[in-house]
Amino acid sequence: MDFTDRKIAEYTESFTSEESGLVQRLLLSSKENMEHVDMLSGRQVGTLLRLLVQMSGAKRVLEIGTFTGYSALMMAEVMPDDGELITIELNGHYSQVSDQFLNERTFEGKIYQIMGNALEIVPRMEGEFDLIFLDADKINYPKYFQLCKKKLKIGGILVIDNVLWGGKVLDPHDEKAKAIHKMNEMIREDQHVEQVMLPVRDGVTILRLK
Ligand SMILES: C[S@@+](CC[C@H](N)C(=O)[O-])C[C@H]1O[C@@H](n2cnc3c(N)ncnc32)[C@H](O)[C@@H]1O
Repeated sequence: MDFTDRKIAEYTESFTSEESGLVQRLLLSSKENMEHVDMLSGRQVGTLLRLLVQMSGAKRVLEIGTFTGYSALMMAEVMPDDGELITIELNGHYSQVSDQFLNERTFEGKIYQIMGNALEIVPRMEGEFDLIFLDADKINYPKYFQLCKKKLKIGGILVIDNVLWGGKVLDPHDEKAKAIHKMNEMIREDQHVEQVMLPVRDGVTILRLK
């Protein structure tokens, strides 16, 4: 799927930092072994996450939707040694790739993957997070927004991917577009957050809990 003008996308990506060798190997393995690699958030969103983690000094990070581990690895690489990243994935098929990379010795005690339905797991999680990356089933985005808010510390950051859904949110007809648009409206009306929606790739919202 082309999310933005192809030439602009190529240009902006070429001026964004390259992934590490390890992340490049994960990318290759994802392309070789998996269909739907366009689910992967990609260099610009991945690097945005890395920068946010570093600039905010996030030590406890939650990711909802691992897929093959691209965004998890991008963030974990720049987290401090005593940091903790928990990533949740429903579909065991993707562990074929994610396990190879997320279980690397370098990330022992830093990355924890939980397999299961995030809608059931997140409410049971203890403690607050400095940063949450939401990138799972779009139909449930309104529910996830409420859940994530409860798990964020004050001043914490929530990053949400695919908030433009290929532009369909402008005139939402299908259920996913309607759900994403509903969440976008909830965020706009929420007095407890300060947010920016960026037209990066398929749209990214970054918000801070006041
Ligand atoms: C867009 S992909 C994630 C991409 C990943 N964050 C990245 O950038 O590489 C969304 C993932 O969410 C997973 N997912 C969907 N519904 C879920 C649920 N209820 N709980 C946990 N994971 C779910 C899907 O199986 C899929 O792997």
